[in-house]
Amino acid sequence: MIKLAIDLGSSMTKIYRADTNSGIVLAEPSCVAVCDDTQEIKAVGKAAKNLIGKTAEYTRIVNPIKEGLIVDRPIAAKMLCEFLSRIGIKKSALRHALIVVSIPCGLGDAQLSEYVALMDECDLRKVRFVEQPYLAALGGGAVLSETDPIFCLDIGGGMSNAAVISANGIIAGIALNVGGNHIDNHIINKLANDSKLLIGALTAEKIKNEIGSLAISPLGSMVAEGSSTQNCQPDSTAVHATDLSESIRACINKILDYAVGVLWNLPAEVAAAVHHNGVYLSGGVMKLAQAPQYIGNKLNMRYHICEEPQFATVLGGGVLLQDKELLNRFARKVDM
Ligand SMILES: Nc1ncnc2c1ncn2[C@@H]1O[C@H](COP(=O)(O)OP(=O)(O)OP(=O)(O)O)[C@@H](O)[C@H]1O
Ligand SMILES: [Mg+2]
Repeated sequence: MIKLAIDLGSSMTKIYRADTNSGIVLAEPSCVAVCDDTQEIKAVGKAAKNLIGKTAEYTRIVNPIKEGLIVDRPIAAKMLCEFLSRIGIKKSALRHALIVVSIPCGLGDAQLSEYVALMDECDLRKVRFVEQPYLAALGGGAVLSETDPIFCLDIGGGMSNAAVISANGIIAGIALNVGGNHIDNHIINKLANDSKLLIGALTAEKIKNEIGSLAISPLGSMVAEGSSTQNCQPDSTAVHATDLSESIRACINKILDYAVGVLWNLPAEVAAAVHHNGVYLSGGVMKLAQAPQYIGNKLNMRYHICEEPQFATVLGGGVLLQDKELLNRFARKVDM
């Protein structure tokens, strides 16, 4: 039987195939280019993302998953079906495949039913929905026990999940609509205000990923290209890592304020265990230079991080697909 773990991230969709031991078989931007007139799909995934800011007027770039929620189900369904076909899964095999799907921590019933409907539209019938913190913890190498809770923090593109979990369930948790995209927006605003340079979303993301840092005095600089806000002519400016520090820190600190809120009012034994065990970090934003160290320091906890933190969630889905008992325990009860 085909067994897949699917992480429909706001930035990237990741798919893991467990039955053939293939590991991660797809990682593509959760992005679709649609023709406004005909509603025809022009590109999906990487090809669609490359069109951001460069398309003709009648082409729309859609991110069907925003801040962890399905905001355009028909387009999300087309995107997911295309991704499933790209990894070579035949349509006829979909309804028999066992699928683990990551959902945000504490997702409400109305939004969960959107996920259910989306899977149904893709002909996926044996779906187990699992809240993100369980998956990220397992994918990040944590062992979940009933008596030894752990704290997990994932910062993705559109959202962050923070939760204290054990094998018995989520003790306290939150999903927050702040992530790496917010840092990109800060960078766009900063360059517009300080350097009178308008840059696109792709350029802002590139700047963040290449020179963004949470070090005290970060080094590094690059040239950003765009257009002048004053005369709309092509223009460029040098950006230094130090110029971005304040915005990046502000965004991460906001997330940490909420993360710390999750740690308040824990029963004393749970608080002690969590502090002893340290924090499990995941999500693409943890690749920012010095992010794990900065967050560990702020939380006053030691941290654990895997080599590719953006894949922790989907890898956790892979772990659950090998352990039926654990999967049944963590899957949210849903009528499909
Ligand atoms: N090297 C890097 N440095 C900094 N940020 C990075 C790096 N690589 C990726 N990112 C950022 O990580 C984010 C994507 O992470 P991830 O794949 O975990 O998100 P997602 O799962 O798609 O979204 P979400 O969980 O919010 O729904 C994006 O903002 C991306 O720019
Ligand atoms: Mg994610």
